[in-house]
Amino acid sequence: MKIIGVSCSPRKGKTTFYALEVCLQAAKETISGIDIRLIELSDMKIHGCVACGKCSKVLECSQEDDFVKMIPILSDPGLAGLVMATPVYFGSMTSQCKAFLDRCVMFRRNGFLLRNKVGGVIAVGGFRSGGQELAIQSIHAAMLVQDMIVVSEGKPTSHYGATLWSGHPDGIEKDTVGLETARSLGKRVAEVATKMHG
Ligand SMILES: Cc1cc2nc3c(=O)[nH]c(=O)nc-3n(C[C@H](O)[C@H](O)[C@H](O)COP(=O)(O)O)c2cc1C
Repeated sequence: MKIIGVSCSPRKGKTTFYALEVCLQAAKETISGIDIRLIELSDMKIHGCVACGKCSKVLECSQEDDFVKMIPILSDPGLAGLVMATPVYFGSMTSQCKAFLDRCVMFRRNGFLLRNKVGGVIAVGGFRSGGQELAIQSIHAAMLVQDMIVVSEGKPTSHYGATLWSGHPDGIEKDTVGLETARSLGKRVAEVATKMHG
């Protein structure tokens, strides 16, 4: 059983990566033997969907960029959960995140391959209330269209996912409330993934 985390910051190894690492570590500690993988979009060049229609016929894309690496990972039947982590950019996700989600249309068109995969979302903003929930909601919308099982970060907070504040004067490592939501989300994704796919 695999859980994939995708960090959608253009900056490698920064605050979104950190929040996602915390989340995936909690998932790993929740379910023994779970296979965790963290992917950073900063390592890849993924363009937006050009609506050519090729993927209506085959699980292939006309664009020859790094999304080709994602096709076997996301169409793997062993995939149980997907955690998307984005910095908040103007109250929404990054353009890297949007391009990635739009390119996932190929999985919908080829038998809803992401159906029943558990989806959780992390948003990291420079401000405490800088649009984290708005960013999360727009990613939830894309997950719902894929027939994924969208989860909150679970109890005790149980709202919309993990919301973190990188602008804390002592750094994101000191955003204890936000980090708690990241840990809870990892736990929740792992729990539901096990119920659905274990
Ligand atoms: C173009 C741009 C737009 C941003 N818009 C917001 C915003 O609307 N709300 C917010 O809280 N932070 C905003 N930020 C700050 C980032 O969300 C914040 O610095 C985040 O921690 C960056 O993640 P990273 O360290 O993984 O790159 C913005 C940053 C950039 C570059």
